[in-house]
Amino acid sequence: MKKFNNLNLETRSMKGATKQAGFFHLPNDHIVKTIGVATLLCLVCSIIVSGAATLLKPTQVANALLDKKNNILAVSGISLEGKTVDQAFEQIDSLVIDIATGAVTDAVDATTFDQRKASKDAEYRVELSDDQDIAQIGGLSKYANVYLVKNQGAIDKIILPVKGYGLWGTMYGFIALEGDANTVSGITFYEHKETPGLGGEIENKKWQSSWVGKKVNDASGEPILQLIKGTVVAGTPQADYKIDGLAGATLTSNGVTNLVQFWLGENGFGPYLDKVRGQQNQASISMKTNVQERG
Ligand SMILES: Cc1cc2nc3c(=O)[nH]c(=O)nc-3n(C[C@H](O)[C@H](O)[C@H](O)COP(=O)(O)O)c2cc1C
Repeated sequence: MKKFNNLNLETRSMKGATKQAGFFHLPNDHIVKTIGVATLLCLVCSIIVSGAATLLKPTQVANALLDKKNNILAVSGISLEGKTVDQAFEQIDSLVIDIATGAVTDAVDATTFDQRKASKDAEYRVELSDDQDIAQIGGLSKYANVYLVKNQGAIDKIILPVKGYGLWGTMYGFIALEGDANTVSGITFYEHKETPGLGGEIENKKWQSSWVGKKVNDASGEPILQLIKGTVVAGTPQADYKIDGLAGATLTSNGVTNLVQFWLGENGFGPYLDKVRGQQNQASISMKTNVQERG
């Protein structure tokens, strides 16, 4: 009994000592210390990570916008020539169109509107039927960004954002057309998941330069520009409407054909491009009339 009482006293005094020494004096393998340290570590790490994410957010957004402007400048052929990206971008008119009608809209701010984000927003998203969705994008924003380079008031280049599914994921890029809204003046892809050396060759500058001068629409106004298997031989039928396929990457190549035909077609920028062509025709008719009247 005495022995038991002594033991009890010892235990009590140990408890007291533990309480006095506090949490950090517990043995390292004590369950309370293990859980406590782990919780503290998680808390500190999550504060650092969320703090860094919040602090870096504005820089990330600014960098993403800068990168987008850089891509638009590159595909439009405007060189920086000692200017900053923002200064060079002043040569580009940003506008937003209603994708269904092709009419320019001021329903949203053209300088900040991002159709990629809007396509995921229920307020703007329009679902595509299986028949319409040849680029496998599911849906798109009812408003779309268009970027123009003008020369003495006339459209010199039309830059359009495009996206479509390749083999491994969605490919994002820009296609630039001449003022005739039918001749390609450039293409670029800035984000994709295709395999480097195979589908990833969509980034290859030499291949991209082979697009320059190619025609989009046939005589009936349908976009027929397409990637073929193999190499296009100059002078063969429809060579102007054909691009070399990417070797060993037929599935990515098909994806590129589909995205170009979708975005330049009736469910993409087709209505807007029809309007531009109409305006160009009108302008050339009035120029001819003026010349005849003067003559
Ligand atoms: C690891 C791996 C990665 C591949 N990546 C691609 C790719 O990015 N794009 C593509 O079209 N095909 C890719 N392929 C090949 C496709 O599976 C398919 O064989 C090819 O598209 C057929 O093209 P071809 O008829 O030109 O050979 C890849 C194959 C393997 C094994």
